[in-house]
Amino acid sequence: MFAQTPVGIEAIVAHVPKHFVDLTTLAAANDVDPAKYYQGLGGRRMAMAAPYEDPVTMAYEAAQALLERYDVDPASIGMLVVGTESGVDGAKPIASYLHGLLGLSSDCRTFDAKHACYSGTAALRLSADWCAMRAAESGRKALVVATDIARYGVGSSGEPTQGAGAVAMLMGDRPGCFGLDPHPEAVYTEQVMDFWRPHYRSIAVVDGQTSIRSYLRALQHTWDEYKRRSGLGWDDYDYLLFHVPFPKMAFKAFRLLHEREARNGGVGKDTLEEAFERRTQPALWANMELGNIYSGSLYLSLAGLLERGDERVAGARVGLFSYGSGCCAEFFSGRIGPDPDAWRDRIGIVPGLMRRHELSYERYLHFRHTFEELACEGSCVDTFHGADSGQRISFCGIRDHQRIYSRPRPYLVSYSPSAQALK
Ligand code: COA
Repeated sequence: MFAQTPVGIEAIVAHVPKHFVDLTTLAAANDVDPAKYYQGLGGRRMAMAAPYEDPVTMAYEAAQALLERYDVDPASIGMLVVGTESGVDGAKPIASYLHGLLGLSSDCRTFDAKHACYSGTAALRLSADWCAMRAAESGRKALVVATDIARYGVGSSGEPTQGAGAVAMLMGDRPGCFGLDPHPEAVYTEQVMDFWRPHYRSIAVVDGQTSIRSYLRALQHTWDEYKRRSGLGWDDYDYLLFHVPFPKMAFKAFRLLHEREARNGGVGKDTLEEAFERRTQPALWANMELGNIYSGSLYLSLAGLLERGDERVAGARVGLFSYGSGCCAEFFSGRIGPDPDAWRDRIGIVPGLMRRHELSYERYLHFRHTFEELACEGSCVDTFHGADSGQRISFCGIRDHQRIYSRPRPYLVSYSPSAQALK
């Protein structure tokens, strides 16, 4: 069934948080050569979620903008899947908050998918299969949202690879933005302890070098397997996109494939650098601005390619590699739609970047501290923190063990010390 029905992404929007830290600021504070962060890791800036933002509010901003910009009837959504590894509750999914905030129909299957950074792909592939079976007859769509805040310890080696953001994608049988190729996907799973976040911790534990090795091992397996299953080879791809925990990782991944294919004489005259510049670099600019957004990072690359790609983008074939620590990985492919009007001026990354404010190192630490405070029972204050930054919804803290969200008000009603400090 899946093989015959064209399915894929009908609409895509990326949400950019309103604050960022420049990696030169972080390098100075950590007494590290900024070239390590800029050249060694390939980053520039990392998006910072304010304490009044969380994975729910970011998912809402992305999904609500998608419904508005692409004129989608909420009643047409028959499935809502959130891919995330920054779940806000051990049992209640982010999708259930999102379902209520968006005002979706009660006739809508709603759940979160979890497998570290692979969770966005798990949500997308499951939704694609559902659409292939249901969309043509029912006309219903699936809404996929990948939303995450990447946090590591202050001063740790993972700190410069932090980030935050969300990508919302409408899946259906009229994939004007990105149609999935009908070939069977190639998947790789292995039990590995490279990155995890125990329930009692707010930040992840990561073994970065193990993670890099596991990522490359999974890429090698899935590339070979997808090649065998699909018959697609190096020359069939106009672009190759990879999961981006930090931008240099996409280069490491590209280099692995290029070197292997070169041994078989299959990469033509382009040098490694030229090939990378043409096939992968055009998709990385947004990742360099937002940092790691975990489940959404591969789709942020795709969104970036659509939003700022040149005339080669329309109709281009793209190979995508998704990796989630733990681990599960997948290689699959698709084609960008033939008409840029399907997405033009609706993705939202550049406008989001234009609205951002830079944080000093002290404000960055303050944001982190206030985030920890708001994560505790009794932290809720009756106010809307985000009013000054254009947020449409704000996380206000926890009361009676419930997360409290509020809409903008014309003025702030009351202040806690933390809320006041946010102004
Ligand atoms: N100028 C230029 N480059 C420099 C440099 C300098 N002064 N100092 C170091 N570098 C380079 C290193 O050579 C290295 O490049 P290479 O990988 O191409 O060899 C790179 O900067 C990183 O240096 P390294 O010493 O390996 O960094 P680190 O030990 O601080 O950790 C990570 C790097 C990526 C492992 C760490 O940031 C991390 O754990 N990130 C999280 C990983 C993650 O998200 N995993 C989950 C999903 S995959």
